[in-house]
Amino acid sequence: MRWIDLHSHILPGIDDGPREMEDSLRMAEEAVEAGCEMVFATPHALNASDIPDRENLTELAGIITAKTGLRIATGYEVHILTIVEGADPSRLCLEGTNFVLVELPMVNEALAAGDYLSDLTKRGLRPLLAHPERYYYMKPDKLRKLVESGVRALVNSGSFVGFHGREARKRAEDFLREGLVSAMASDAHSPGDYRRHGETIKKMIKEGVSPELFAPEIKGAKKHEFAGRDTEKG
Ligand SMILES: [Fe+2]
Repeated sequence: MRWIDLHSHILPGIDDGPREMEDSLRMAEEAVEAGCEMVFATPHALNASDIPDRENLTELAGIITAKTGLRIATGYEVHILTIVEGADPSRLCLEGTNFVLVELPMVNEALAAGDYLSDLTKRGLRPLLAHPERYYYMKPDKLRKLVESGVRALVNSGSFVGFHGREARKRAEDFLREGLVSAMASDAHSPGDYRRHGETIKKMIKEGVSPELFAPEIKGAKKHEFAGRDTEKG
């Protein structure tokens, strides 16, 4: 089964991902081995004055691709504060798409977050909510409201195997059961994470979870909605 990853900290020396290129290369090799078709490298943009330079990201991605064959596009994991502070979200999309991967505070709910997210939709962008199951305050009803306003929920596969604790696992299972999950991602930060992601994909598919959620097996000329491009080529 081939899959793509919409949330990854694979690039070295940018955020809390790997410090060294050597570890990035190991991550890329593990991803390829586990069936990864393409990765969106999404380093943290924590506030408007702390946005990693896109050109630098592209350069680092190019080095990893050249050495491992793993296709990497760039993007950001945009903390809602970055948007509140006025950064232009259209410059922070996943490369070649109008998806903006947005992160909310883990513990304290940002009450205006829903407004900011629906504002992105009004501007023609498609907000992807990073790991909603990791937010302590996120309940199925709350997530449903966001989903109904055009937000897509991108859950971490690790949450289903307890990587983020029991509560996050329960929330992830609830969201999945209630049909609120649009896709799964690795949120990989270090070597070993892609191996685990690959194993979780296999396990979940065996348990009946739709392969579509892992960015589907690429067949024929089918375009993948999230990649926004024909992943069959190149
Ligand atoms: Fe992340």
